Amino acid sequence: MENLDWKNLGFGYSDTNSNVRCYYRDGKWGELEISKSNEITMHMSATCLHYGQEAFEGLKAYRGKDGKIRVFRIEENAKRMQSSARGILMPELPVEKFKEAVFKAIKLNQEYVPPHGSGATLYVRPLLIGVGPQIGVKPATEYLFIVFVMPVGPYFKEGFKPTDYVIYREYDRAAPQGTGTIKVGGNYAASLRAGVRAHSEGYSAVLYLDAREKKYLDECGPANFFGIKGNSYVTPKSESILPSITNKSLRQLAKDMGMTVEERRVPVEELAEFSEAGACGTAAVISPFRSVYDADKDIRYTYGNDPGEVSQKLYNKLINIQCGCEEDPHGWVSIVE
Ligand code: PLP
Ligand code: COI
Repeated sequence: MENLDWKNLGFGYSDTNSNVRCYYRDGKWGELEISKSNEITMHMSATCLHYGQEAFEGLKAYRGKDGKIRVFRIEENAKRMQSSARGILMPELPVEKFKEAVFKAIKLNQEYVPPHGSGATLYVRPLLIGVGPQIGVKPATEYLFIVFVMPVGPYFKEGFKPTDYVIYREYDRAAPQGTGTIKVGGNYAASLRAGVRAHSEGYSAVLYLDAREKKYLDECGPANFFGIKGNSYVTPKSESILPSITNKSLRQLAKDMGMTVEERRVPVEELAEFSEAGACGTAAVISPFRSVYDADKDIRYTYGNDPGEVSQKLYNKLINIQCGCEEDPHGWVSIVE
């Protein structure tokens, strides 16, 4: 893959060598299969097509200075996919099978893992879909789990450079007792209109408010929100946001640095009190805010053109642990062998 322009990769799909698949039929998971095809064949009445029986995950493989390939907190992704499966009545894939499939997919495509220091990583996309036919609104009896990978650059093209975000009250991503806490396709479908509008108006993403009262911060499109206030790392507690593995890790790293962590409801007006704020997630890593525009109230909260000191420290710590350049005191990283 020497001819790949790693430094200028965007966050997009590209083909690699092969993907790993596993079917659930007759009440049990089968063996892992390797496929060279980027297509799947399924019944036209498959439940993933009609009733949204679809869940996915996102994690990354990182090339270290030592040339080794590492993944970050893979058990957390495996467990979150189980929680998504429970949420929409799909069978849970055992954690070990999830890990085995991810490791296999990475190994089969290892020449696509970007070099250390290029700023790019290998994005891993596990997907679980109902493929059995139903026409009544019922769960399928057959499922397909697939893991495919691709090299990617930053999710927001500016990477770690601060950018602008927007609040619109007329859209919700997920309902309070709906599916916001699990990673299912329907949430992303619900976010498309607001997301495309935000991009067309020059914003990186939408900062959603809680759907019930529109008083509190929820999350930022495909990432969680965090703000820094004095010595505190503040992040929303909400019944409609995805429990981000990156955010969970940043909370721990903030504690390790002697900061206080506040996981609580965050009123939208508190945006004025943060010295730094940003989005965090696997794809987004830390994407600092330059500003948040509250479109309904015509208020702009601003944070500066450069990443804040705390965001910078957290970012460096996180990416250094992920690629094996710094000690991993919490045992978050596994080497792909
Ligand atoms: N929130 C949403 C809606 C997401 O899609 C993601 C991405 O997975 C995140 C937050 C960040 O989660 P994680 O840090 O586990 O990638
Ligand atoms: C991730 O951060 O891995 C995501 O899944 C975000 C997005 C591409 C949906």
